[in-house]
Amino acid sequence: MSTILVLLVIVGAGTTGAINEDGPSICDRCTCLIANTSSTVLSYDLLDCSRKNLQHMIGSWPERFDTTDPDREIVLSLSFNNITKLEQLPATTTNLVFSCRHCNLESLAGGLFIDTANVLRVDLSFNKLSGDSLGGEVFRGQYNAAENGVPLMLDELDLSSNVITQLQDDAFAHIVSLRHLSLARNPLGQITASTARALAQLVNLEHLDLSYASLTDIDESVFGELRALSELYIQGNLFTTIPQAVYQLGSLQFLQLAENPIEVLNFDHPLEQLVQLNVSSMAVLHTVEVDSFSNVKLLRTFTARNNTALEVFDLTVLQHVSYLKELDLSQSSLKHLHTPTAAEAAVAQHEEGAYSNALEVLLLDENPWHCDCALQQVLQFVRFANLPDYDEEDETRCETPYILTSLHLSELTHIEVCDQPAHDALNNAMYEKPAFLRPGAIFLSLLSVGIVVGLGIIIGLVIVCLKRRLKAQGLGFTSPVRYTSVRDSTTSAVYQTYPAAQ
Ligand SMILES: *[C@@H]1O[C@H](CO)[C@@H](O)[C@H](O)[C@H]1NC(C)=O
Ligand SMILES: *[C@@H]1O[C@H](CO)[C@@H](O)[C@H](O)[C@H]1NC(C)=O
Repeated sequence: MSTILVLLVIVGAGTTGAINEDGPSICDRCTCLIANTSSTVLSYDLLDCSRKNLQHMIGSWPERFDTTDPDREIVLSLSFNNITKLEQLPATTTNLVFSCRHCNLESLAGGLFIDTANVLRVDLSFNKLSGDSLGGEVFRGQYNAAENGVPLMLDELDLSSNVITQLQDDAFAHIVSLRHLSLARNPLGQITASTARALAQLVNLEHLDLSYASLTDIDESVFGELRALSELYIQGNLFTTIPQAVYQLGSLQFLQLAENPIEVLNFDHPLEQLVQLNVSSMAVLHTVEVDSFSNVKLLRTFTARNNTALEVFDLTVLQHVSYLKELDLSQSSLKHLHTPTAAEAAVAQHEEGAYSNALEVLLLDENPWHCDCALQQVLQFVRFANLPDYDEEDETRCETPYILTSLHLSELTHIEVCDQPAHDALNNAMYEKPAFLRPGAIFLSLLSVGIVVGLGIIIGLVIVCLKRRLKAQGLGFTSPVRYTSVRDSTTSAVYQTYPAAQ
């Protein structure tokens, strides 16, 4: 009986606790670690309350924490607690890193960080926050004489995996220092005018994640103010072409565009600073407009893996992107590294190594390569066999023609595949009929059938003649062969005994 009462008291205390979790005893409940500069293991004070069944913000900092030294840093985690409504954080002038992932959050108190002006990073991902719960007052700093108050020093804000469909105009009005923002995996659908106005205030933003947000397009003007943006993640959306807004990003260096339903990859306008591009896993990509790469001249790393509808990639792209160091074309449906007309032009103009430029890594594995004269020449232009990264063990192999199946592409250069006269070498190589349909092959097949039939007839005749001869001499095979029936008699004897045994 008394144990039940105790249990009831404990459960009661858990569900009807005070507004804030009890401060002084917080280290009994959570993990508290003090930074120790001499051991260099921990450079910050840690208060880890994740998975502690909390329902409220902590009431105060542990007494052991020095909260007045602006050179120190506190890391507070409330993740994996069922908190629902997040209250203001207790005051500290230290730097602060705060996370409340998987907290079931639906609303945030106004002035959440009003007493923690040096908050650097905030992670509120995997909650149920909507745009309505993210008003300007949430990220507001202390009031002062100036109209807008003291801005927060926030550097990084993660709002991914919430239920935001649009942001309010002033959502980020007080955190203009923000450099990293993630809105990934929110059901945005489109960038509305108010979302665009909220983003326009982030003039220092360098890294923006809008991936997996059901976006179909982004209006041209939306990124107009994001002059510092260098990394844009828009993979896993519904774009059918590169959104026009992207070309407004004059500082863009990294573009993650993978997993979009783009059929034709084309750069309409220059992206002068772009050095890294990812266009992987585009299920419907069938054409890469190589000439448009003159708009991304500084490209160094180009990842185009797992594009299952892509059969041709024209390596003359290397003439436009002469700094390209890494090109990944693996796990696609590539048969050719050229388009026919470009290949003809290339044959006329180039020699071994002509395209190689700065190329250091060329990944071609797991494609159904058609190993013909044109492919051999392109591989020579890039000195494929000499690339430091090439690996004989990998699956970079010919699939067709039949006689070259399983040949590693690096060995193709040692094989004579260009034996046709020069003028029709390309045509033959590219539109080669299956071997058994060529006139020579048909004639040979007929001839060999004829020979086999003829031989059969001759052998048959010889045997008949021989038989007749032997018969005439009385040595024929006419007497029937007699088999002894020892085995038959014994087995039948066994069968006969069975019924008797039963
Ligand atoms: C810091 O770490 C060192 C070595 O691990 C230890 O001897 C020392 O007592 C620690 N200091 C504090 C203040 O915890
Ligand atoms: C490219 O995108 C794919 C698909 O989103 C991803 O799996 C891969 O890690 C990315 N690679 C690079 C180098 O960014």
